[in-house]
Amino acid sequence: MSFRTIEWRDNAVLMIDQTRLPAEEVYHRYTDFTFVADAIRNMIIRGAPAIGVAAAMGIALGAQKINADTAESFFRQLFDICDLMSKTRPTAVNLFWAIERIKKKALELKDSPLDSIKEELKNEAILIEREDLETCKSIGRHGAELIPEGATILTHCNAGGLATAGYGTALGVIRAAHHAGKNIRVFADETRPWLQGARLTTWELMKDNIPVTLISDNMAGFFMSRGEITCCVVGADRIAANGDTANKIGTYSVAVLAREHGIPFYVAAPVSTLDLSMSDGSCIPIEERPVTEVTRIRGIQIAPEGVNVRNPSFDITPARYISAIITEHGIAKDNFKEQFKALAAA
Ligand code: MRU
Repeated sequence: MSFRTIEWRDNAVLMIDQTRLPAEEVYHRYTDFTFVADAIRNMIIRGAPAIGVAAAMGIALGAQKINADTAESFFRQLFDICDLMSKTRPTAVNLFWAIERIKKKALELKDSPLDSIKEELKNEAILIEREDLETCKSIGRHGAELIPEGATILTHCNAGGLATAGYGTALGVIRAAHHAGKNIRVFADETRPWLQGARLTTWELMKDNIPVTLISDNMAGFFMSRGEITCCVVGADRIAANGDTANKIGTYSVAVLAREHGIPFYVAAPVSTLDLSMSDGSCIPIEERPVTEVTRIRGIQIAPEGVNVRNPSFDITPARYISAIITEHGIAKDNFKEQFKALAAA
């Protein structure tokens, strides 16, 4: 891929600014963990696995600068940093998964010299990033088998290289099918209000020469009713134990439309997106973001000043609408609850 979503370089965290794509390819270099937290909150980096990597790197960055005489003081400061990271965005479980993994690593090393704990936390964050890339490639390999030759695939939001350490989950499936020589095309929902589909999915697919057609969100039903969509593939921010899936707002509508038209609806996500502590989707916290994201488009006011607005950033697609959930360890169908246990243990 011709861009890096996020990387650790020379004691700093580098990331591409996703709020400025596709107009400008700007990279930020952060040496202060509070700026990494702001970047997650303000969607300079976004997408469930990518914000997990960012949180891990942010904590590792903060750890490098902790000034402590005792292990107790070091861990108190480290956990404060973890706490700050955990308050950036609530829905994607990958963020919390990555924070827990960094905490676990630190606790395993609690009797080591502080300098070596700092070094190991940095290595762990880099490892999370590298593993995510491999995970996405495995998701792609499994998922590509579900994509027929000649398929037109509808996707929503951006579950691509930009939303992960690279390659993507839903777009990983699409990339793998394309690289396997299948003649496929993508329909990208624009994904109001943040326009991740219009700005990011089209940008990265066009860079890879994968045929993509942009549609506005309200056009999906039209193209399904005309028989122009073969299947849908989307990502996920958190998947409950019964398979109910939180993903970008509008995903639920696509899934219901797909069922109406007898079109398979696939979710692609790493095992770290499974949250088996949540029995069903009603337990998943849904982020509500600033109303100006709805009343303005790229800074231009499009609604009357003072209008009532709601802006949930995610919705829940009930498991019954999902044909299969594609993970790096294999594909779950039907009885998700049972299959998740095996996939999580693999
Ligand atoms: O608000 P965002 O852009 O972080 O939401 C992203 C999504 O909903 C993605 O579909 C999801 O995180 C999967 S990314 C591989």
